Amino acid sequence: MRTIEQVSAMQAWSHEVRGRARVALVPTMGALHAGHLSLVEIARRHADKVVASVFVNPTQFDRADDFARYPCDLERDGGLLATAGVDLLFAPQASDMYPVGAQTTVTVEQLAEPLCGAHRPGYFRGVATVVLKLFLAVRPHVAVFGEKDYQQLALIRRMVRDLHLEIDVVGAPIVREEDGLAMSSRNRHLDAAERAAATCLARALAVAEERVAAGERDAAALVAAATAELGREPRARIEYAAVVHPETLSPLARLCDRDSSAAAPASDVADRALLALAVWIGGTRLIDNRLLTVPAASRERRSA
Ligand code: PAF
Repeated sequence: MRTIEQVSAMQAWSHEVRGRARVALVPTMGALHAGHLSLVEIARRHADKVVASVFVNPTQFDRADDFARYPCDLERDGGLLATAGVDLLFAPQASDMYPVGAQTTVTVEQLAEPLCGAHRPGYFRGVATVVLKLFLAVRPHVAVFGEKDYQQLALIRRMVRDLHLEIDVVGAPIVREEDGLAMSSRNRHLDAAERAAATCLARALAVAEERVAAGERDAAALVAAATAELGREPRARIEYAAVVHPETLSPLARLCDRDSSAAAPASDVADRALLALAVWIGGTRLIDNRLLTVPAASRERRSA
C-alpha cells in the first residue's frame, strides 16, 4: 500500500489512474475499527482501486478538548488498511488541507440544522468542507460512508447532487459489537462501567422498533418509549432522541401504512422514519439510529 501526504501528489496520482480504473474513496479520521474496515470491503466491491484517507479534521470539532483527545495512531491504521486491501492511504497535513488564509467553506443548509447540527455548532460546515476537499484531492468515482453518521451521509448526498459532483455515494450498514453497541472510535473512551451502560442506545432503538411492529404509529410515543429505555440507565444523559423523515430529517408526527390512502401523505407523515439518538455516557458522546419501517404485513392488510 502506497502512502501519499500531499494534496498535489494525490491529485497527480488520481490524474494518472482514474482514466483507466474506477477509484473509490473511504474517508476516515483514523482510530480505525471493524466498522471502517467494512467500508473498505464495500469500496473494493465498487471499484478497482481503493483510497482511504486518514485526516483528523480540525474544523469539525466544536470543542478543543474533544479534538485534543481524539485518538490518533497512523502506523496502526496504515497496517489495518493495508491488510484490508487498500491500495493507497492519503494522510494529508492540516496545513496542506487548509492553506494559510483559507476562507472557503461549504454549507448545506436545512439538512445541517436538526439533530447533531443543533447541538454542535459549525460541525457540518466542517464536515462538508473537508469532504469536498477530499473529493477534489482524490477525485473518486465512488465514496463510501457509514450509516451510523446518518445525518452526515444525507448531507453529503445532498452536496454531491447540488454541486454535480459525479460521485456515487454508497451508504454502509452500521457494524455492531455482539451486545449491540454501534462501533465507534469514541467507544475506546468508555471505562468498563460506561461500556456496559452504552448498550442502552441499541436497546432503546430495539424497543421503538418493537413498538412499531406492535402497531404504534405515533412519533411522540415512539420517542417516549426510547427515552424511557434510556432513562433506565443512570449513566446515560440524553442529548436528543428524535423521530424524523429519513430524507428531509424534518420532524415526523406519525408513521403511516404506505397504501392506507391514495392521497400523498402530509409532510409530517411517512411510512419510514429515522429514530436518531445522541446520548452522553459519562464524558463520551455516542450516536446511533435505526430506520423504523411499517411492517409489510401491515401494508398488505390495509391494501387488501
Ligand atoms: O465520518 C468521519 O469519520 C468524518 O466525519 C469524515 C467523513 C472522515 C470527515 O472528516
